[in-house]
Amino acid sequence: MSEAPNNAVITGAASGIGLGLAREAARRGMRLVLADRDADALAAAADALPDALAVPTDVTDPAAVERLAAAAYDRLGPVDLLFNNAGIMATGFSWEIDPARWDASLKVNIGGVLNGIRAFVPRMLQAARPARIVNTASVGGFNPSPLMAPYSATKFAVVALTEALKGELDMLGAPVAVSLLAPGPVRSAIFDDPFGGAVHPATERFVAGLRGMIDQYGMDPEPFAAAVFDAIARGDYWIVPQPEALDPMLERRQAMIAARAQPSFDFLS
Ligand SMILES: NC(=O)c1ccc[n+]([C@@H]2O[C@H](COP(=O)([O-])OP(=O)(O)OC[C@H]3O[C@@H](n4cnc5c(N)ncnc54)[C@H](O)[C@@H]3O)[C@@H](O)[C@H]2O)c1
Repeated sequence: MSEAPNNAVITGAASGIGLGLAREAARRGMRLVLADRDADALAAAADALPDALAVPTDVTDPAAVERLAAAAYDRLGPVDLLFNNAGIMATGFSWEIDPARWDASLKVNIGGVLNGIRAFVPRMLQAARPARIVNTASVGGFNPSPLMAPYSATKFAVVALTEALKGELDMLGAPVAVSLLAPGPVRSAIFDDPFGGAVHPATERFVAGLRGMIDQYGMDPEPFAAAVFDAIARGDYWIVPQPEALDPMLERRQAMIAARAQPSFDFLS
């Protein structure tokens, strides 16, 4: 990409990180197409920005994401930046989480990213000009956690899918770049309704701990988004605005695997 993108498409743009990305992109003068399944909040978000089209979209629906891509190319011309950002949380013991919640996690967190890739990559290749896809995983995409297996499993998948995509685009010599965004704690609505079935007291304690941690140490979405756009301007693949939330855990995990040691989760007890 010119590394000075003029436009962006953002999924999950009605709240939290996606809304922060939209506001920061607008501040940087970009034209926007915003997508979310919450049509009212999305319209309010777009109305407050100078040049933003709201396209209510459920990212789990391939046809809806295809319509989003068509609307985006109509409105913006060639798309410079796609943020596959929509995601949901599910907490609880793996075997107790509702099948519907497990399914939704797979469909939103993995399927949503995949639908974005399917709809936008062919158009980006056809445009044959620089563009970038930014997939939102999490620091949890490198470190699994008990009591949020759907989230851990799907965010690991996003890390893998994104690296595979990068390799494929490089094989083609395509001008389409890829980034993996791994947020640490950011203040948002993601823990507003995280329970995926029977709520065990251990899950309640776990969620209360995470909410407290995000309240205390979380970044606000707008400074977070500013760091993301700075990383994009540098052309970074790994976008990790809070390295302190990733690096120590990653180091411990790599050492554990190298030593074939048992996974342990002392921090939960
Ligand atoms: N907030 C954090 O601490 C944190 C940390 C790591 C990763 N993340 C990731 O950041 C991304 C954004 O999360 P957030 O924290 O801003 O949460 P959020 O709940 O505030 O925002 C997520 C948005 O995605 C939308 N969405 C959910 N399902 C959708 C669907 N099927 N189709 C379209 N839109 C849908 C929601 O309506 C919401 O507006 C997610 O992928 C999340 O996993 C967040």
